[in-house]
Amino acid sequence: MIEENSLHPETLAITSGRPRNTPDGSINSTISLSSTFHAGGVVGYGRYGNETWTDLESAIAALEGGPTLAFSSGMAAISAVFSILPVGAVVTASNQGYSGVMTLLHTLQASGKIEVRSVDVSNSDEVLAVLPGTALLWLESPTNPTLAIADLPRLISAAKDAGCGVAVDNTFATPLGQKPLVMGADIVVHSVTKYLAGHSDVILGSVTTKDPALFSRLEDARKIGGAIPGPFEAWLALRGIRTFPIRFEKAQANALEIASRLSRHPKVDQVFYSGLASDKFHERASSFMAGFGAVLSFTLHSGVAEAEKVCESSKIITHATSLGGVESLWERRRKWSGESQLVSETLIRLSLGCENVEDLWSDIEQALGNA
Ligand SMILES: Cc1ncc(COP(=O)(O)O)c(C=O)c1O
Repeated sequence: MIEENSLHPETLAITSGRPRNTPDGSINSTISLSSTFHAGGVVGYGRYGNETWTDLESAIAALEGGPTLAFSSGMAAISAVFSILPVGAVVTASNQGYSGVMTLLHTLQASGKIEVRSVDVSNSDEVLAVLPGTALLWLESPTNPTLAIADLPRLISAAKDAGCGVAVDNTFATPLGQKPLVMGADIVVHSVTKYLAGHSDVILGSVTTKDPALFSRLEDARKIGGAIPGPFEAWLALRGIRTFPIRFEKAQANALEIASRLSRHPKVDQVFYSGLASDKFHERASSFMAGFGAVLSFTLHSGVAEAEKVCESSKIITHATSLGGVESLWERRRKWSGESQLVSETLIRLSLGCENVEDLWSDIEQALGNA
């Protein structure tokens, strides 16, 4: 008998979240479009459950290694986690992580719901110093958009010893790069919008936890808060997961090659990508990650206008926000007002897709030549 937990992620992405094997039954999940269900069952109403979500949740659960809840967006999933904190809880989080999360945390702090301690999560001593009194350590690694790497094994273990809850946003590394629950984290969240769905056509999120009490509180938060996924979006994401490992592998290989070529380009000042041997996080990332991800950032010697011109000049790479799709995207991050002031004004974040690497490089060279 083949046990599910002995299978590799490439296999799990394909085999999990399917309907039961019945003669002439569909091999694919169906899009369950019903807002209500016949009485007498356990679900009852479409805000409490839906079989298309359940299939998507089973697939993410197989990849991350714990029971999973799907949400209407990554931010909805993250909001659900913060919503179950008691009033006055201390949250320690990155000072240069995803801007949406930083904005949410500061809004919750301004309303008196929580207290936020902002730290550089890649500086372990700084994080360890503020653990006493912390209720929840929020770790995003690699960080968006500076690609800093937190020492997850060390920080998670220290936080657990100190009695803190730990949540990891695993959107950038994906379960192919790191498995935070195996390291002892309580919660893993995803913007499923990104690599898991992978085609820039849905907004979805997920929360995974092995703690049944936490799971139940988060499920209640979804039921009552109402941040449920649409069945069609759930189906699209599930379809995307089937090819997630091969997409991610290709995108990651493109990222490594482009990072190394960018690091030798005369117009480029700094490249941020832990896959480069010269990167300050290379050793740390290599010690516990199985890959370096498919997003890189770089800064230019010249100014903001030139950085904008580079992004506008590409022909293959799309000038757009977001990441994790089959198509490469780039943008200057500081054009967003919510972005951390610690991020350089000229920093361009590049999400590598699955195109041919030589085509991508020709495009980058001509775009840089235009600046
Ligand atoms: C690391 C990270 N977490 C969470 C989110 C939010 O996800 P969503 O846009 O699906 O709400 C994003 C979005 O870019 C992200 O980059």
